[in-house]
Amino acid sequence: MPPPGPRSKGLHGRIAGTFKGLSSQVRLFPVAFEKGFGVTLTDADGNTYLDFSSGIYVTGLGHCHPKISEAVARYARTLMNCHDFTTEVKVRLVEKLLAMLPGDFGGVQLYDSGTVAVEAGLRAVRAATGKWEFFSGFSDFHGKTFGAVSLARTNVFFGPTRAPGFHMVPRSYPYRPTFRKEDGSEDLDAYFRFYEQYLVEGTAGKAAGFVLEPIQGWAGSIIPHPDYLRRVREFCDRHGMLFMADEVLTCCGRAGAMLACERFGVIPDVVTLGKGFGNGFPVTAMCVRKPFADGIDKISASSSYGGNPMACAAALASLEVIEEEGILENVMRLEKFFLQRMRRMADEHPIIGEARGMGCLLGLELVKDRATKEPFDEAGKLVYQKAFRKGLAWIPAGHILRMSPPLIIDEKLAAKGMDIIDEAIGETEKELGFSR
Ligand SMILES: Cc1ncc(COP(=O)(O)O)c(C=O)c1O
Repeated sequence: MPPPGPRSKGLHGRIAGTFKGLSSQVRLFPVAFEKGFGVTLTDADGNTYLDFSSGIYVTGLGHCHPKISEAVARYARTLMNCHDFTTEVKVRLVEKLLAMLPGDFGGVQLYDSGTVAVEAGLRAVRAATGKWEFFSGFSDFHGKTFGAVSLARTNVFFGPTRAPGFHMVPRSYPYRPTFRKEDGSEDLDAYFRFYEQYLVEGTAGKAAGFVLEPIQGWAGSIIPHPDYLRRVREFCDRHGMLFMADEVLTCCGRAGAMLACERFGVIPDVVTLGKGFGNGFPVTAMCVRKPFADGIDKISASSSYGGNPMACAAALASLEVIEEEGILENVMRLEKFFLQRMRRMADEHPIIGEARGMGCLLGLELVKDRATKEPFDEAGKLVYQKAFRKGLAWIPAGHILRMSPPLIIDEKLAAKGMDIIDEAIGETEKELGFSR
């Protein structure tokens, strides 16, 4: 019987009426999971899936990596929480993290969610600059609290969603540029002309920082123009603003480097890390470059769970695994493989408008027509469900198929995952009458 099977359905049915607010992912494929090991997940009926979402961009080093599980278990037995007092495992984590980050980061604070790290980052930018307004990018995602939502376009609040002083501006999206030249290609200069003008006419003149996801995850693995982040950096420097990169989703090897910003030759002033940082354990970080690090002392930075020993152990073990297992090198090999494969798929499938990726952060944008680029949501939904039924656990995003396979996957299994997606797209095209 194709999944979801009877136990999945039974378990899901028991709380479907009371556990509210499920993501579209679960609503479209209501499976109940029981186990995860390495790159596979097993559901309550014993069906196994190749995990092409890494949880949700989280378990990049595989589910229940023995070194990480053991590190967490050790502190679950000896010391779970001692507020923000110093522990040896925290000292080792902070030293390791600073050694692995590029540039001159010199201030760290630890949290239990990406959103809270982003909120702390905003406070740190304000404290360091004495200014209070922020620029952020169209379609970025930074979390669901008031400050994080003020940076982004989401509809999680009823009523005004943006606090005063938060200014969302267009950002680079080469496939669908807001500003374009006559030949249709992205006009990068126009973005910066707009920012310069907006700074004068649209703000109170107190812009503290520019907050961006270096690569947009939720919006659909959108990779900016290669020069975009460097020019944002220059824009910030010109106007005494700090550049804050929200790398909750892109950090720790996901994009082929510790920070995705490195792939663009840029170092941010403030950076947030999450998801893959603890490989499944809720641990996140907010890091500030040395010249601005003392600002953290002014923002009442600590929290109940931030930096607890289990969390520190998980993050330290994850960073060590990244080094010991040559994860960044594997991701760069995988990037080459995935890009080649996705481009071949784009040649074969008329509904693929663009294939893109950096590291193990991949996207296939489905369109009804390559000329008009009209998004093809219905196809996205069908491909998602068909592939899941064939044994691929992954993340839908409307018309953009987002893939975030584990960073430890080998090429054979990576190919198997892509075969499933390829097949699902073919079947969807046939069903919707879009075959060649
Ligand atoms: C870029 C980015 N920032 C912040 C967040 C929020 O992180 P969390 O869900 O851990 O609060 C996310 C979550 O998806 C994210 O992708």
